[in-house]
Amino acid sequence: MSEQPTSWARAVAANELAGPLPSRWAHTQGVADRASCLEGVLGHQVGLLTCAALLHDVGYAPRLAATGFHPLDGARFLRDVHKADDGLTRLVANHSFALLEAEERGLREVLEAEFPLLEDRRVVDALVWCDMTTTPDGGLTTAEARVAEILGRYGAGSVVGRFIRRASPEISAAVARVEAALADQPRWG
Ligand SMILES: [Fe+2]
Repeated sequence: MSEQPTSWARAVAANELAGPLPSRWAHTQGVADRASCLEGVLGHQVGLLTCAALLHDVGYAPRLAATGFHPLDGARFLRDVHKADDGLTRLVANHSFALLEAEERGLREVLEAEFPLLEDRRVVDALVWCDMTTTPDGGLTTAEARVAEILGRYGAGSVVGRFIRRASPEISAAVARVEAALADQPRWG
């Protein structure tokens, strides 16, 4: 399927998350709101970013949790059930440095083989910025506070805790690149 509209992405995400995981759905809507702030720097790619923002956490839906690694479960669901656009599934699979968490879970090779990272790092960075500046219930935060919140919630010794400590410098660098681009509008790159 060619590029899907954001109305489709919103309906799919709401269908999977709003009932079983209302706070995850609130977070998702906050992340999508952040995406709309990047139209000036991403141009037409803001549509792809918004779809990815809406669907990045769809793999948390209990009925989709096959491996328990939500970026992979979500991307497979979008690819296999919805025949989603390749760029969209690759963004969802790799959101917020998921490759590093995949490594902690022994899934890095699987993730890389099925969903290679997009070459256009601007959209990848943009999704990191949207996700990492949105609280778990959809409010605004800083990436630093968000990383600390994740670490506190999961514990430093957990798989997610180990992942987020490794990803933290990458997250900070990606957020800084997006904020530099925002400061240098109208167009990034
Ligand atoms: Fe998220």
